[in-house]
Amino acid sequence: MDYKGNVDRVLYDRDILAERVAEVGRQIKADFAGKDLVVVAVLKGAFVFAADLIRAVDLPMAVDFAEIISYGEGTETTEEVVLTKDVGVNVKGRDVLVVEDIVDTGLTTAFLVDHLRIRDPRRVDVCALLYKPAKQRVEVPLRYVCFEVGDVFAVGYGLDYAGRYRNLPEIVTLKELEREE
Ligand code: IMP
Repeated sequence: MDYKGNVDRVLYDRDILAERVAEVGRQIKADFAGKDLVVVAVLKGAFVFAADLIRAVDLPMAVDFAEIISYGEGTETTEEVVLTKDVGVNVKGRDVLVVEDIVDTGLTTAFLVDHLRIRDPRRVDVCALLYKPAKQRVEVPLRYVCFEVGDVFAVGYGLDYAGRYRNLPEIVTLKELEREE
């Protein structure tokens, strides 16, 4: 089945995404003006969002990446979280903004935040594209949220299902969550 045929609902289209990302970018600019900002984009899911967001924040900043694997091929969070790529820049004394695709249980984000705090940043905040408050299990310093969603499985704009759909320009739900061959 092609991508379009398997789309159930469009949750956020390109215009809504662009508008909201610009708005959150302006808030971040206002909050971090004059600060030594390091943006840490979490791979893979946040790469599209982060690429748009950093261009909406008109401030000097460093940008780095961390990769964390938490989901298998399904839609439920596994308890096991593995850091597969660490941040390379020195975050000591700096203001770190973690850019996440989605905070679901919060386990992945909390793991990265704890990992970063060991390196003595001035503060760590989180900016999430999507937030599922009903599913949250652990506290995370969530300062910016683009959209709150219910208990749906969303794909597109960087978010995947079984490694696919990241390149959809909109955020959608799928009709079928079966593995497609
Ligand atoms: P958490 O640890 O439960 O907060 O979620 C960790 C990761 O699960 C996120 O960073 C996503 O990569 C993935 N995830 C959770 N919910 C969704 C979803 O609705 N669509 C796609 N990926 C999701």
